[in-house]
Amino acid sequence: MPRRQAPPLWGSFAPDHDSGAPLQEQLAAHFRGAVLDGRLKPGAQLPSTRALAAEAGVSRQTAVLAYERLVAEGYAEGRAGAGMFVPALLPEALLQIGRPAAVVALEAPTGSLSARGRGIAALPITPARRGPGLLSPGLPAFDAFPAEVWGRLSAQLWRDRPTADLLGYMEPAGHLPLREAVAAHLGAARGLACTAEEVLITSGSQQGIALAARLLLDPGDQAWVEDPAYVSGRSALAANGARLVPVPVDAEGLDVGAGEAVAPHARLALVTPSHQYPLGVTMSLRRRLALLDWAERTGAWILEDDYDGDFRYAGRPLQPLRALPRPGAARVIYVGTFAKVLAPGLRLGYVVVPRALAEAFATARALTDRQSAGPEQAILATFIAEGHLAQHLRRMRVLYAARREALLAALAAGAADLLAWEAEGPQAGLHLATHFREQALDDVAIYGAARRIGLQTPPLSGSFLGAAQRGLVLGFAGTAPERMREGVTLIRRAVEIASRQATKTA
Ligand SMILES: Cc1ncc(COP(=O)(O)O)c(C=O)c1O
Repeated sequence: MPRRQAPPLWGSFAPDHDSGAPLQEQLAAHFRGAVLDGRLKPGAQLPSTRALAAEAGVSRQTAVLAYERLVAEGYAEGRAGAGMFVPALLPEALLQIGRPAAVVALEAPTGSLSARGRGIAALPITPARRGPGLLSPGLPAFDAFPAEVWGRLSAQLWRDRPTADLLGYMEPAGHLPLREAVAAHLGAARGLACTAEEVLITSGSQQGIALAARLLLDPGDQAWVEDPAYVSGRSALAANGARLVPVPVDAEGLDVGAGEAVAPHARLALVTPSHQYPLGVTMSLRRRLALLDWAERTGAWILEDDYDGDFRYAGRPLQPLRALPRPGAARVIYVGTFAKVLAPGLRLGYVVVPRALAEAFATARALTDRQSAGPEQAILATFIAEGHLAQHLRRMRVLYAARREALLAALAAGAADLLAWEAEGPQAGLHLATHFREQALDDVAIYGAARRIGLQTPPLSGSFLGAAQRGLVLGFAGTAPERMREGVTLIRRAVEIASRQATKTA
């Protein structure tokens, strides 16, 4: 039997089953600590995996994995026929830097943020939705992502050995074939005629909105925002110094007259005319023309966030503001994204800007994060040019229309007494806004309870700056039809949990 070093060291290993860290990592960390604090000296022999497993009270496989990790990190080495040892020479960097015995929480130096930084840090953002959750708005069907085609195009790209034009520093405005493909797609799918020079690739609508705000607003300028609105879009304007002017939304979309009454000389309006977020209404033609005319008259800019305009399940798709035959259309910055038609994780979107502004947008992009990933842009360009995007959209329209119907049926069967919604509203987008019939219900508390039991249904009130309406925003695109009823049952349960908690604390 090999001579073993310090068996009590292994015997003292106490796994923490609540930490969530795999056992092999805990064992490796235990060992690492012993090397760094000198309990195990360079050159010391280590137990066999069998002996280690027995002494540490873990499986043999765990011991093997722990050793593999330590070898990879340079804390252990195998010597043929002799077993495992602590290397005579530990990696210099490890010895010099050492590792703290415990993680030290550093005091966050918030006091040293600039005034602008403090303002930004205090702004609300749309929370990242962690983990799976039913009825999450804003997400497409990941189970229907065209992974096969994407994988094939990706493999082909790498087989062809891309060179500097994709792997190097690129034109910040974007890969030209992608800009051309986006321009062609917008013409065919949205009736929006534009040239590749007017299209700039971004990392998603969020970046498009932020760049436009930075380039078009000075600190203190007023900006109309829809009330309610998409929170991160609104905050991107505020982060760039805008004074937000909430303008009410009714069944016809943003109330242009109300905006003119409170802030006639606002510099910019951020709108979602195709499918208002979160209420889901479509801006009427009358309002669209009024908005364009206001922009033309006052020299204001319109930021048209067309995040899910490709999805209409009945009736003809509406032309974007940017495509309407009105002089004000020249004052529209059209913001688009592949987050909803493909996946948000791709981080690819675009803006269509008047040609005179294209260079300024490209410079601002270069100064922010230089460019989007070259290979992903090239794959998407081929994906669009070969017709896969158009085909995927056709498939998704059928899929999402069915999912929307399934959600409406589940709501009608299980929540008609609790929630109200516009079944006859625009059949569009990826989400449905619902209102609590009992407006005293606390939708923020209900959302908190909902998240804990597997739902991702944000509160409607969080989208308002002014007088809030209460309800939940339900996404249907990413939830399978057979799970809609379960989702609705969970909403009821979340309401019960939140109501019980409210009674307890009252
Ligand atoms: C109205 C609206 N605009 C923009 C976005 C963000 O899109 P992107 O991922 O392209 O930044 C979202 C995402 O949910 C949205 O709902």
